[in-house]
Amino acid sequence: MLSERAHAEIQTAIAKYPDKRSALMPALYIAQREYGWLPGEAIKELAEIFCLSETQVGSVASFYTMYDLQSVGKHVVLFCTDLPCALRGAEEMLEQIEHKLGCKAGATTTDGKITLREAPCLGGCDHAPVMLIDNEEHAQDLTPEKIDELIERLRRA
Ligand code: FES
Repeated sequence: MLSERAHAEIQTAIAKYPDKRSALMPALYIAQREYGWLPGEAIKELAEIFCLSETQVGSVASFYTMYDLQSVGKHVVLFCTDLPCALRGAEEMLEQIEHKLGCKAGATTTDGKITLREAPCLGGCDHAPVMLIDNEEHAQDLTPEKIDELIERLRRA
């Protein structure tokens, strides 16, 4: 169940728009922060708040890569392999990360710490290759050395 704080944040987001449905995406983000992902319970709660069907809320959530409809690790790493990043070695770097984590893209490490996902453009093509950590931190101009440091940091966090 969403906390009072989450409800208050969602109401603040709703107040910013003439049509409350426009606040659905920030509300999904708030719910995901609370639950760690978006279980059916969260989708149902948001559907009630926004007077939408669960299917409508689920459709929005499933369209975007930043929403997790399955449980994830403590940290979620999205790694871009779109063309500009691929031209700067992203595919080899993704293999490096998979090797380092011991799991393929789309999976979570056995200790439950890190979920790795391959992603389309993360909006940082001019600083390719790019990965997004926990939907907040853009790591750009990646090199094999930077990747090693970032993964070690996430393992310790
Ligand atoms: Fe990788 Fe745009 S193609 S950030």
